[in-house]
Amino acid sequence: MEKFSILATALSTPSKVVTNDDLSAMMDTSDDWISSRTGIHQRHVTTGQTTTDLAVDVAQQLLQTAGMSADQLDFILVATMSPDALAPTVATQVQSQIGATHAFGLDINAACAGFVHAMSVASKLLMGSYQTGLVIGAETLSRLVDWDDRSTAVLFGDGAGGVLLTQTNEPTGLLSEGLHAYGAQGEALTAGQLSQQTPFNPSDVSTLLPFKMNGQAVYQFATRRVPELINEVVQAADLTIEDVDLFILHQANARIVKSIANRLQQPLEKFPMNVADYGNTSAASIPILLAELQAAGKVKPGQKIMLAGFGAGLSTGGTLIQI
Ligand code: ACO
Repeated sequence: MEKFSILATALSTPSKVVTNDDLSAMMDTSDDWISSRTGIHQRHVTTGQTTTDLAVDVAQQLLQTAGMSADQLDFILVATMSPDALAPTVATQVQSQIGATHAFGLDINAACAGFVHAMSVASKLLMGSYQTGLVIGAETLSRLVDWDDRSTAVLFGDGAGGVLLTQTNEPTGLLSEGLHAYGAQGEALTAGQLSQQTPFNPSDVSTLLPFKMNGQAVYQFATRRVPELINEVVQAADLTIEDVDLFILHQANARIVKSIANRLQQPLEKFPMNVADYGNTSAASIPILLAELQAAGKVKPGQKIMLAGFGAGLSTGGTLIQI
């Protein structure tokens, strides 16, 4: 077991809420189509807050809840596919803005599986010489959406969530994990391509920021690979699927979550969802849901919780943690 304690959870979203009816006034879609295909009713969209702003808000809440000061942090990991810049990274800007004078900062991009990958990295750091760190998932995906493409514009939202982790002697932490890449299927979901053009390579390959997605390919991928992943991670911990108390899955689509629960033959009550309120917030969706569940008293000491992400790459990641 890779031991750590989760001392705090937190979330932050932009205050502007865009409903399905709001989108129906902008493009040829309807509340009925969006909610029946995805389970999404609304999403939060930034009107100026950056990915860094949302991550800083989460970091400050985490420190306050844990009763710690920023200079006690050793590292800040930010999972994001929508950073404000390639450099400086979001994590280093969070470090600066909260005054974490002893921490290093690292952005991790595994798209919607990013938070789980970052939790895996953090658990290894905490087995070494690092005592305390933040793992934050933060996204402003509204900047990557083509607002003229109804097939993707209705799916995504902005937000951030995170956890404060510390070394512990208690029997809590990461029981097992599985991280996988399926790069051959990478074209199924792309965003943020940067121009390849230079004076030495004048070919016209232009910047292409918006999402392009083969929705059915991603749907098939998720409903096949995530149950495989969860079974693998459970078996690696020498447990059965029934031993898992909660499955906190990436919130892309309620139909995907229901299909995974069905394939695993587990009751849907073990698969909490909040995609209706936030849409798909990529790397932020798992920590936002975890923070909501903890605030509602639905995460209890001793529980075994499966965190599982999937998305662009294509990639999947699962970690089984004991709270
Ligand atoms: N409103 C109304 N009609 C729409 C909309 C819309 N917003 N979008 C598409 N349609 C139409 C299409 O044009 C199509 O019309 P046609 O039959 O006349 O051609 C029809 O609806 C059906 O389109 P499909 O793409 O076949 O719809 P599908 O049932 O597959 O649902 C969806 C689409 C919801 C995207 C589904 O495929 C899905 O959830 N896929 C998984 C996507 C996902 O999870 N992506 C996130 C990964 S996370 C990450 O890494 C960022």
